[in-house]
Amino acid sequence: MKIGAPGESDPNEQRVALVPETVERLVKAGHEISIGEGAGTTAGFPNSAYTGVGATVGTAGDIAGSVDIFVHVQSPTPSELSAMKKGTIVVGLLNARTDSAGVSALAAAGVTALSMELVPRIARAQRMDVLSSQASIAGYKAALLAANSLGKYLPMMMTAAGTIPPARVLVLGAGVAGLQAIATARRLGAVVEAFDVRAAAGEQVESLGARFIQPPAAEDAEAAGGYAREQTDDEQTAQREFLKEHIAEADAVITTAAIPGRPAPLLMTADMVAVMRPGSVVIDLAAESGGNVAGTVAGEVVNVNGVSINGPINVPSSMPFDASQLYSRNVMALFDLIIDKKEGTLNLDFEDEVIDAICVAHEGEARHGLGA
Ligand code: NAI
Repeated sequence: MKIGAPGESDPNEQRVALVPETVERLVKAGHEISIGEGAGTTAGFPNSAYTGVGATVGTAGDIAGSVDIFVHVQSPTPSELSAMKKGTIVVGLLNARTDSAGVSALAAAGVTALSMELVPRIARAQRMDVLSSQASIAGYKAALLAANSLGKYLPMMMTAAGTIPPARVLVLGAGVAGLQAIATARRLGAVVEAFDVRAAAGEQVESLGARFIQPPAAEDAEAAGGYAREQTDDEQTAQREFLKEHIAEADAVITTAAIPGRPAPLLMTADMVAVMRPGSVVIDLAAESGGNVAGTVAGEVVNVNGVSINGPINVPSSMPFDASQLYSRNVMALFDLIIDKKEGTLNLDFEDEVIDAICVAHEGEARHGLGA
C-alpha cells in the first residue's frame, strides 16, 4: 500500500507522524512510504534518515493525492483534503469530539477518517493508545516546567551554608499525566501530595512515594471506562475547601484534571490561587480545554500577585523526538490491525470495537453522531 506522512502545517507542531523506525518496518513489509520534505526535521529526523530506510520524500500535495493511507499528527489541511482521492484512509488526532466542522469536511471529502484520540481504553488497544503515550510526556514536562520556574531546589540540599528543605509539589488529577508528573517530581526529590476524585488513583499515587489526599467522606467518582464523572456542586465546594490548605503549603501545583468530552473542571478558584505564597508556580495542563485554574491563559504564563500560572499548550510537541517515536508506534499498532499481514491490503473490519470507535467518517457520512 502507499502510505504517506506530510509535515504538519501548525507552526507550533514539532512532532512528525511517522519516524524512520516505523518507516523501515513498513518498507520491509512491502509498502511504499512517502514523507513530506523536512517533515521530521523539527523532531530530529532529517530527510536522509527516511530515504536511508527506503522512503521517498515529496510535497504535501503530491503525497495527499497519491496515497492510500495519509498519516498526520493533527488534522489534514483543507488543501490536503481536497487533493485526496475518495476512500483515502486519514489517520490523526482529529479532535473529532470537539471539531464538528472538521469531521463534516472529512465526510464531505469522502475519506475514511480514523481519529486516534478515540482509541478505546481496553487492554487490546493499549499499544495504540495515543492519549496515554502523549499524556505521559505532558506530565513529565509539567514537573520539569515547575522545577524550572521555581526559585527553589526541588530536593533537600545539605550544603556548607546550611540545609535547604525540599520543595512541596501538589498534583491535582492523578491519571496518566498526573502520575508521570508525580513520578518526575519525586525523582527530583520533591515532597509530593496528590488528589484525584477516583479512589483507585490512591494506590498508584502512594506506590510512587507521594501522599494521596482526599476530602473526608469523599465518594469515589469513577465512571465508565475508568474515567472520572463530573462532580456535583456540593462535592466541588467540599473539595475546594479541603484543597485550599494543601494549596497554601505547596510551592508548585500541577493540575491535570479532565472529563472526557467536557470542559476541564475548575479545581482552583481565584481565592485558592490567592493563598499561595509569592514565588509559587502553577502548571495547568488542562489549559487547552478551559483550564483547571482561574486565571489560566492558554499558551501564556500569567503572574497573579507573585504566583506564576503557566497554561502550556501542546506540551507533548515540546519533546518532539520521543513524542513522535511513541505516536508513530501507536500508529504502527493501528496498521497491524487494519492491514492484512499476508496480503498487505486494507482490512477495515467495522465489527472490531477499536475500528468502529475511531472511525468518524466513512463513505461520505460522519459517524457516531459527530459532525455539524
Ligand atoms: P483524563 O485525562 O480524562 O483525566 C485526568 C485525571 O483527572 C483523571 O485521573 C481523573 O480522575 C481526574 N479528575 C477528573 N475530575 C477531577 C476533579 N474534579 N478533581 C480531581 N481530579 C479529577 O484521564 P486519563 O489520565 O487519560 O485516564 C484516566 C484513567 O483512565 C486512568 O487512570 C485509567 O483508569 C484509565 N486508563 C485506562 C487505560 C487502559 O486500560 N488501556 C489506559 C489509560 C488510562
